[in-house]
Amino acid sequence: GAAVGALTVTSLAACSGADRPMSMFSPSGADASRVDSHWQMLLLLGSVVWLVVMGFTLGAVLRRRRAHREDEPRGRGHVVVAVGGALVPALIITWVMADSVLVMRDTGGQGEDAGTVVEVAGHQFWWEVRYPEDGVVTANEIHVPVGEVVRLEMTASDVIHSLWVPQLSGKVDLNPGRTTVMTINAQEPGTYWGQCAEYCGLQHAWMRFVVVAHEPEEFDGWLEAQSLPAEDPGAGGEPGDPADPDAGDQDPQVVRGREVFMSSSCVYCHAVAGTEATGTMGPDLTHFASRQTIGAGVLPNDRESLARWIVDPQAVKPGNAMPGTDVAGEELEAMLDYLESLE
Ligand code: CUA
Repeated sequence: GAAVGALTVTSLAACSGADRPMSMFSPSGADASRVDSHWQMLLLLGSVVWLVVMGFTLGAVLRRRRAHREDEPRGRGHVVVAVGGALVPALIITWVMADSVLVMRDTGGQGEDAGTVVEVAGHQFWWEVRYPEDGVVTANEIHVPVGEVVRLEMTASDVIHSLWVPQLSGKVDLNPGRTTVMTINAQEPGTYWGQCAEYCGLQHAWMRFVVVAHEPEEFDGWLEAQSLPAEDPGAGGEPGDPADPDAGDQDPQVVRGREVFMSSSCVYCHAVAGTEATGTMGPDLTHFASRQTIGAGVLPNDRESLARWIVDPQAVKPGNAMPGTDVAGEELEAMLDYLESLE
């Protein structure tokens, strides 16, 4: 199990293109920078306090030894205790609290003008991502334009989850029945790992996602491509039809795979825009092939992994909601061709 896990992680790192460490110590977003500088301040303050307390402790030990020897009269210890034990801590705590409140104000996403609104719903154990103004639905990937404030409006369908992209943002819970808000303002293009940060069940650790930050024009292109149906509805028709010039353009293997998919139980849970697959329990597959991972980060999105996932998802990610399928052999190959055509 550990070996498989290690392999998965290695292959993911190689395939996914997530080019950055998932660390809050290399911030690349406005909110993450604010959290980072707050943390640096706490570290500095904590270190100074520790050094001072240790200095006093050492001093007291040495002094006590000396006092034993010389029977020294008592000094102004009560002043030191009053100032060092009450006044200074009160000032430090007030300072830390004030800065914490400011960080919460700056990172809460309140009152900021957002260019793009993204709706995120947490599910056991994946992320549903919607761009309501453009009718785009995707999963386990949040695409954002660089240098723009993106507002995430978040909820959960089952239990509490928490969205965290250490390099870009703070950490905000997703709660069933209510909406919480956070903002992402990525400073550099790239792919950033995110992770569910609230224990939500067996596959909490594999409830991952990526934030892909694009240059603004590239982001517009992505959004437009995602808003179109992935399938060319005419292309599957009879070739040679003059009213339908695209007819027969599609790979016959893809057409066959489409039939297999549409007659499988997959369609009860998954949707492909513009087709009879309209399930809502699982991730929307309209542009499945454009995504980097399968199963919320558990596998890279390649053909071999996809086959593994479809045949026995419970072996890959035990406890997730997807049942296995008995589609096999030539039908499975055709279905893989179809799914890989959904760019
Ligand atoms: Cu969702 Cu932990």
